[in-house]
Amino acid sequence: MNPFSLMTCIITILLFLVCSLVCVAEQSELICSHQPIVALVGDDVILPCYLDPPISASSETVAWTRPGLDPEFIHFHHNGRLMPQIQNPSYYLRTRLFVDELQNGNVSMKIFRVKISDAGKYFCFLESMLKEASIQLTVGKSDFLKMMNYTLW
Ligand SMILES: *[C@@H]1O[C@H](CO)[C@@H](O)[C@H](O)[C@H]1NC(C)=O
Ligand SMILES: *[C@@H]1O[C@H](CO)[C@@H](O)[C@H](O)[C@H]1NC(C)=O
Repeated sequence: MNPFSLMTCIITILLFLVCSLVCVAEQSELICSHQPIVALVGDDVILPCYLDPPISASSETVAWTRPGLDPEFIHFHHNGRLMPQIQNPSYYLRTRLFVDELQNGNVSMKIFRVKISDAGKYFCFLESMLKEASIQLTVGKSDFLKMMNYTLW
């Protein structure tokens, strides 16, 4: 094999690899629960979102937002960690992603000690994959006893 055709061969293989990675990413859908998630004030709640078929989101920038809030970022995960500088202060120390689950395409977010003001529509973005999905959180205030209890404790 002469050097030129070897080079052509290598480039072809590289192109094929790049294409198959991109194509796999394009086939995966970002799916968040279509049902509203219901939580009571003071509960911890998980907003379930995942890539299907599963591909790793470990190296992805994962942005959870609520358009309309200022700042709109609820949880901004970049370079493997939360960027608290641009997080909405109302969610400070109250959110987490399941970092070990990112490799399975699981980008669910947990919110601790839910407040009435947390109710609304959340968006999950995977920037480099150009994927986005939304999910509704409903916060119940009917459980008066439980609410009173949280106020008392
Ligand atoms: C994602 O991770 C959370 C927390 O471990 C878990 O409750 C949930 O079932 C997982 N979702 C999927 C689709 O694996
Ligand atoms: C009230 O709060 C206490 C302490 O957190 C808990 O043990 C108890 O089960 C709660 N009661 C009700 C009715 O929620």
